[in-house]
Amino acid sequence: MRFGCRRCHTVRREGTTLAASLDRLGSKNPEELVAAIDRPAVYMPEFRFTTADRDDLVNYLLWLGRGRGDGGKETPTVIHFVRNGRDDEHPFVKRCGGCHRALTEALGGIGRGSIGPNLSALFTPFYPRLYRKGEPWTPERLRDWLKNSRKVRPLTVMQSVVLEKGEVERIAELLRVSRYVQTEDGMGERVKRY
Ligand code: HEC
Ligand code: HEC
Repeated sequence: MRFGCRRCHTVRREGTTLAASLDRLGSKNPEELVAAIDRPAVYMPEFRFTTADRDDLVNYLLWLGRGRGDGGKETPTVIHFVRNGRDDEHPFVKRCGGCHRALTEALGGIGRGSIGPNLSALFTPFYPRLYRKGEPWTPERLRDWLKNSRKVRPLTVMQSVVLEKGEVERIAELLRVSRYVQTEDGMGERVKRY
């Protein structure tokens, strides 16, 4: 919950399907899971956990997956293609991608920066940092943030970004994701689009 794994993964049948479900890793050995967390995939954040926290996570994943190997039926996951240049014109790539990355349903992994936080599933309740206390991110709040970030967080290092008409809407649309709840048969059900 604290690190927001559910914004990309399904955990205990809840979360998004931007990346693989973490419910079925019972057949992996602990070293593989340690490696997946310590040297994460390109669009998974580097959490830099303490060894104790990381080991707790690995034990939890093995416990979750006990008796369930890979290969069960599962809600399809977004496939992450290597970008072929086709999406370079998307305003996220031009305006945000130098500093941020995100996994998206429409375009897969996008952006190449890591100075700013990974923005995958920004508008879901699984995103770990709120806009402001008690206020989750919404497309409207994203617009206000881009217009005047210091008004939201006086000490932030992200400067405001000047966007052309329509660009903020396209960026917000790209960051929206579906929330799936996996049913007992593993087929999953789309519950809502955030
Ligand atoms: C921003 C998205 C994102 C977040 C947040 C995220 N991951 Fe991942 N994770 C990925 C991607 C992408 C992969 C590569 C495999 C895939 O695409 O499903 C991955 C792979 C993994 C794997 C290897 C899975 C396998 O099948 O071998 C583990 C284990 C894992 N993540 C654990 C975690 C844990 C634990 C957290 C929370 C602390 C977390 N991830 C948060 C994106 C994310
Ligand atoms: C020059 C680098 C840079 C660019 C360009 C940039 N950002 Fe950021 N952004 C950052 C940094 C650094 C932070 C972390 C600021 C902080 O923690 O206060 C950040 C924070 C954010 C946050 C807050 C996320 C959180 O977890 O607190 C959002 C949302 C965000 N950026 C969206 C965007 C979008 C959308 C764009 C493109 C229109 C963009 N940014 C362009 C560097 C950048």
